[in-house]
Amino acid sequence: MTRVLFVCLGNICRSPMAEGALRHATLAHGLDWTIDSAGTGNWHAGDPPDPRAQAMAAAHGVDITGLRARAVCRHDFERFDLVLAMDHSNLANLRRLAPARPGLILSLALDLVPGRAGESVADPYYGDESGFLRTWRDAEAIARALIQRAHA
Ligand code: 4NP
Repeated sequence: MTRVLFVCLGNICRSPMAEGALRHATLAHGLDWTIDSAGTGNWHAGDPPDPRAQAMAAAHGVDITGLRARAVCRHDFERFDLVLAMDHSNLANLRRLAPARPGLILSLALDLVPGRAGESVADPYYGDESGFLRTWRDAEAIARALIQRAHA
């Protein structure tokens, strides 16, 4: 059983898109994984994903309208084995919060994607639609890498 948590800042753009892309990919592969997303900030707690993120996911056949933002909590480091940060700032915050636990992997989400190690998923919040497309492509690449990793 793979348990994956994606973490960004607001939990309304990048991590819900990553969650949606991975849910979609695991369903297509018949994999029953536990997948969620959260934010290091809690300003948007209870909010649905940004309408631009919803629209980009929908354009790729993925419904993320039912997701609701929440802040990451200490319990998440027990409930999930892979906690994947969308950028370096999120990762630094997670490292401060996380207890040492054998088996817990904390890393950048793009570290899993060949050729993308060390890269952040750019924050599309203050940009235009092209940024959301870029985020979606990253989310798909991350999902693909996770599925490949499971089959390796
Ligand atoms: P996210 O994008 O971290 O990808 O969800 C953001 C959403 C909201 C804010 C910043 C980033 N904000 O400052 O409200």
